[in-house]
Amino acid sequence: TDGNTVAEIAKKIHREPAEIVKKLFLMGVVATQNQSLDKDTIELLATDYGIETEEKVQVDLTDFDTFFNQEVVEENLVTRPATVTIMGHVDHGKTTLLDTLRHTNVTEGEAGGITQHIGAYQVEEKGKLITFLDTPGHAAFTTMRARGADITDIAIIVVAADDGVMPQTIEAINHAKAAEVPIIVAVNKVDKPGANPDRVMQELTEYELIPEDWGGDTIFVQISALFNKNLDELLDMILLVAEIEELKADPKRPALGSVIEARLDRAKGPIATLLVQEGTLSQGDPIVVGNAFGRVRTMTNDKGRRVKQATPSTPVEITGLNIAPQAGDRFVVFEDEKTARQVGESRATAANEAKRSTTNKVTLENLFESL
Ligand code: GTP
Ligand code: MG
Repeated sequence: TDGNTVAEIAKKIHREPAEIVKKLFLMGVVATQNQSLDKDTIELLATDYGIETEEKVQVDLTDFDTFFNQEVVEENLVTRPATVTIMGHVDHGKTTLLDTLRHTNVTEGEAGGITQHIGAYQVEEKGKLITFLDTPGHAAFTTMRARGADITDIAIIVVAADDGVMPQTIEAINHAKAAEVPIIVAVNKVDKPGANPDRVMQELTEYELIPEDWGGDTIFVQISALFNKNLDELLDMILLVAEIEELKADPKRPALGSVIEARLDRAKGPIATLLVQEGTLSQGDPIVVGNAFGRVRTMTNDKGRRVKQATPSTPVEITGLNIAPQAGDRFVVFEDEKTARQVGESRATAANEAKRSTTNKVTLENLFESL
């Protein structure tokens, strides 16, 4: 249980459960001993007993759930770009799709700036930004796809029209469904001689992805990522779905979000590509990323340009961390460097302890196995 039943509370404050039940009754609350009480009732009870509930109110800064589940301030909410994850079977054309979208969307001047691959890009269509995340199709990258689905607003399932529905196509559909995000199917490679888009649509009906023409409600777009065919329509569909979703964020909050990629660079040290989900990330911000901490020393956008701020749904590459975090880790910005360091260090210690205890278990098992 959550420790909030009448009996448990009674134990905590060294009283008889029956006494609490009676007290509650006098306060107009009818409860049994095994009943859980809500926060408000507990506070009423505490006030009645003259007990400070500060202990409950104090937040554990190392628990990032607290920040991610924070209540929204309605009046601060603004529309933010959709984060769209491109998923699908290996070689079905995910990266080609992103490359074509990027290159047809950047101006000449910017094109030269696109050097590094950061796996996250923003594209502008009809004056609106869309954030794209690439995921690998290889079977070994299940967790990355699961994480991708987690931070995504819309999933694009790419299926090659000459190959049809394959194992990682199904897996991608399952991730998107588990994350409860809208799915758009991009039937790719329609330029190929062996392309059979109808067969793809037929195969996908088995997974409850049914085109509107066939009485379903899934958006299908037939494209050729390589030859830039119908990508405008795909972007339009994304904007349409994004509008329905009414995606909003609060740019005034302390920033938080997720790690898309991270690595250790010989010259620059730890580098992490972050997706800002709430708030505005600024250069100089004290930050904890997974079990790493530091200050945002530099921020680079997807076009290789230095930026000083990143608003919700913006991917940026940052430097300034003590160690490289991991893809899928979450980040939170703190008020001062001292707090960030403390939180980062205690998260690292906790992670090390957890790791050690599992390593020990494995060793023990191995020991028994070898006997
Ligand atoms: P993984 O990241 O390994 O899962 O693959 P991917 O889905 O990113 O596929 P990628 O974009 O690397 O494309 C695989 C191959 O398909 C490349 O040789 C592309 O040139 C080719 N390809 C992608 N899209 C099209 C298309 O629309 N038409 C044709 N003819 N070939 C395509
Ligand atoms: Mg790829």
